[in-house]
Amino acid sequence: MATIVGGFTSSHIPAVGIATTKRLFEEPYWKPFFDGYIPVRAWMEKVKPDVAIVVYNDHGLNFFLDMVPTFAIGAAKTYDNEDEGWGLKTMPPVPGDPELSWHIIETLVKREFDPAICQEMKVDHGLIVPIQVIWPDADTWPIQVVPVAVNTVQHPIPSAKRCYDLGRAIGDAVRSYPEDKKVVVFGTGGMSHQLQGQRAGFINKRFDLDFMDKMVHDPESLTKLTTTDFVRDAGSEGVELIMWLTMRAAMGEKVKLLHSNYHAPISNTGSGVVLLEPAE
Ligand code: DHB
Ligand code: FE
Repeated sequence: MATIVGGFTSSHIPAVGIATTKRLFEEPYWKPFFDGYIPVRAWMEKVKPDVAIVVYNDHGLNFFLDMVPTFAIGAAKTYDNEDEGWGLKTMPPVPGDPELSWHIIETLVKREFDPAICQEMKVDHGLIVPIQVIWPDADTWPIQVVPVAVNTVQHPIPSAKRCYDLGRAIGDAVRSYPEDKKVVVFGTGGMSHQLQGQRAGFINKRFDLDFMDKMVHDPESLTKLTTTDFVRDAGSEGVELIMWLTMRAAMGEKVKLLHSNYHAPISNTGSGVVLLEPAE
């Protein structure tokens, strides 16, 4: 049977992709950020998961404002990426696991989630940057992905509670997949940031640290946060944290915290990393 071997959350800041390509790991500005990924790289190296289910949001590369699905799942053999205007290097296509994708889709629809099914899908910095930071030296990706795109761009966006329930269903789908596969679940985005308007540059470290703590010990309390709560306390793009909750719910009730790191600001964002394993 497939098992969820771990859960990982990370911000997905485009400037990080550029810094990774330029290998700025030891620069004073970047070091406290990149050092936060050293234990994650070591864990991936040790556990060697086969597949990453990556819960992220598309920022306009695959879906634009003319057509935004609330939830979309990739079911492709490979996923291309390209620069969205940030100056990011185009990375090698990311391999998919269409069989696992279809199993998750079947399970979700039975559970009355109705995702868009994407047999072709481009993946943007929301998916690429976190895997690039974990495997900066890879010329081919050592992991397959199942992209799960959540709308955080066009309001109304799904609630934290809805994303938590989605995560539970994704977790159950993996645990009922008959093939032996080690699956890691990623939730990307956040933490607090606002890229637009009068409050551009807004970061709330206290909110972020509290969120990181509750993610581990009391995630259900975070499902009470409304979109307005997120926008007020974490900035308009801080709503990306609903992807963290999707990942957390997939892990099951109890988790062990293996590692976390917080550093702000990086680019315009409060940047957080969390690595979890399932616990009894
Ligand atoms: C930044 C952060 C994001 O999540 C994003 O999608 C784009 C930019 C930033 O910090 O600049
Ligand atoms: Fe983003």
